[in-house]
Amino acid sequence: MAEKRCKVTFEPEGRSVYVLSGTTLYEATGEAGIIIKSECGGAGTCGNCKVVVISGDFEESGSDRFLNEKEMKAGAVLACRTKVKSDMMIEIPLSSRLFEQKILTEGLDTHLKLSPNVQKIYLTVEKPTLEDPRSDLDRIWDGLKNISSDPQVPIDILRRLPEKLRKDDYSVTIVLNADEIVGIETGDKSATNYGVAFDIGTTTVVGYLHELNTGKQLSVASRTNPQTSYGDDVITRINHTNTAKDGLNDLHVRIISCMNEIIDELADDAGIETKFIYEITTTGNTTMNHLFLKLNPKYIALNPYVGVMRSNIDVRAKEIGININRYGKVHSMPSIAGFVGGDTVAVILASEMHKSDKLQFAIDIGTNGELVMGNRDRIVACSTAAGPAFEGARITHGMRASDGAIEKVIITDEDVEINTIGGAKPIGMCGTALIDSIAELRKRNIITTTGKMLKRDEIPDTVPDFIRERVIDHEKYRTSFILVPGSKSQTGNDILITQKDVRETQLAKGAIFAGYQILKSILCVTDDDIQEVLLAGAFGNYIRKEQAKWTGLLPDIPSEKIQFIGNAAGTGAKMVLLSKELRAEAAEISRNTEYIELAVSLDFQKVFTDSMFFPECLTCE
Ligand code: FES
Repeated sequence: MAEKRCKVTFEPEGRSVYVLSGTTLYEATGEAGIIIKSECGGAGTCGNCKVVVISGDFEESGSDRFLNEKEMKAGAVLACRTKVKSDMMIEIPLSSRLFEQKILTEGLDTHLKLSPNVQKIYLTVEKPTLEDPRSDLDRIWDGLKNISSDPQVPIDILRRLPEKLRKDDYSVTIVLNADEIVGIETGDKSATNYGVAFDIGTTTVVGYLHELNTGKQLSVASRTNPQTSYGDDVITRINHTNTAKDGLNDLHVRIISCMNEIIDELADDAGIETKFIYEITTTGNTTMNHLFLKLNPKYIALNPYVGVMRSNIDVRAKEIGININRYGKVHSMPSIAGFVGGDTVAVILASEMHKSDKLQFAIDIGTNGELVMGNRDRIVACSTAAGPAFEGARITHGMRASDGAIEKVIITDEDVEINTIGGAKPIGMCGTALIDSIAELRKRNIITTTGKMLKRDEIPDTVPDFIRERVIDHEKYRTSFILVPGSKSQTGNDILITQKDVRETQLAKGAIFAGYQILKSILCVTDDDIQEVLLAGAFGNYIRKEQAKWTGLLPDIPSEKIQFIGNAAGTGAKMVLLSKELRAEAAEISRNTEYIELAVSLDFQKVFTDSMFFPECLTCE
């Protein structure tokens, strides 16, 4: 008997998908290309995926414990705990949506000598005669002899060679990727040569289209990583590959289709056809790299944390479903070890830490915090499980950095001032506002060094009354600070900083700061020896240095030593697209960087506990 198919329509988009009866609403949102919040990847344990059933039959279990009375009356259910049984109409509320976020595409300005791996050479060869009966391919090889020695040719290209060669009187453009001919174009097409660099982040994916002869960037496009609907951190996604049937394929297909969309958009914007793109380079953390290449990431998450491979890998793009020229290739940057991947290699390459005389500390704060410390003599790196708090997840009113997110908070003696992205009425807060809020409350001792939020009657007398009155004993969240009253928010509810949010922040910043302390101890250096702190990635580029120091997320080092370096991972991917020499340097960085596994560090637990305290900032104004 044919299985029943049901139409599920999501509002307010009005987007419909047909799914089999028994499919969860969570899976249906994924099919519809709508990304909703999830920390547990659909396991039913985070309570983030609330949707409202407008009509239709369903089977539900286990939603109740995450829903209050008002939500239940409105028809709310958890999408991952609700199975479709008939045609349905579903509303996805603002609070459950993962918004397209502010994505950082800018990186360091780099000056490099162009030497792309893909070259186009316009050749005119001599016509064959009875006296010169060399084969067509021999003529091409002879024409290329100063550039490459007898490059390989795929059989399909060879089959088309005779006609291509004769079409334009024995003149053709040869497309060479290292030691392989990957294209033969008629006429002189050597003036245009295209490639794309990708930064595949756990949360965001950014692509950059470049003209390789000039190095010029033609277009940039980005998307939220659609794997997010399987969980917002790498561990949840790895678990999905282990537990779900075809789990690895699910995640692989999602990232490939996202990259293909980006490639289409880049090509459209630049007015070119994707078949003229002959190479892409990619960087990402170890898990993203494995999922993109459809390699099993299982053992990265299990002691002793080993990936399938560390070195760079070059594969034919079509073998993994990437839509560029059919003979085009993908160069995936090498990684370091454990969770420290090609994105960290890219950060080192872009910041030139491996050539620097100065002792530098570079940090890319995401769901995983990647930390690197060193200079030309020695570099050590580690990864810390910071969790998604700084991306707005697991925070009571947290959200990604998108329209309506509070991104800045200042508490003066007169007011609590906030700024939202896009100037919209506030919906929640993103990571920078979380840091600001905690720093501001720390400065007034409303949050103590141990992270306790004081009750209203415990707050020092020096604190103005209007601030004191914002501290409440909330019936659900207990001691909380009202950042924005419900009368001024988009949802009509108060936007709060709760005691639990402070604890989540302590765990996240404690993990990062502990990594910093351990790297310092391995290199036998102190804060005073660090000459530059480099902040990479989206979050790092939007945080305010002094506020981050007040929370202990950044070391208490003079602010002038702290620099923002933009999307350095993306910059690194572009550098290896444009230069063979830098590709070789990246391989060397990957081999020479020492990986420190914090999980086996004897001191880690103690250092981590100490790092959860909120310090006094001595170098702040
Ligand atoms: S509870 Fe549904 S995604 Fe977490």
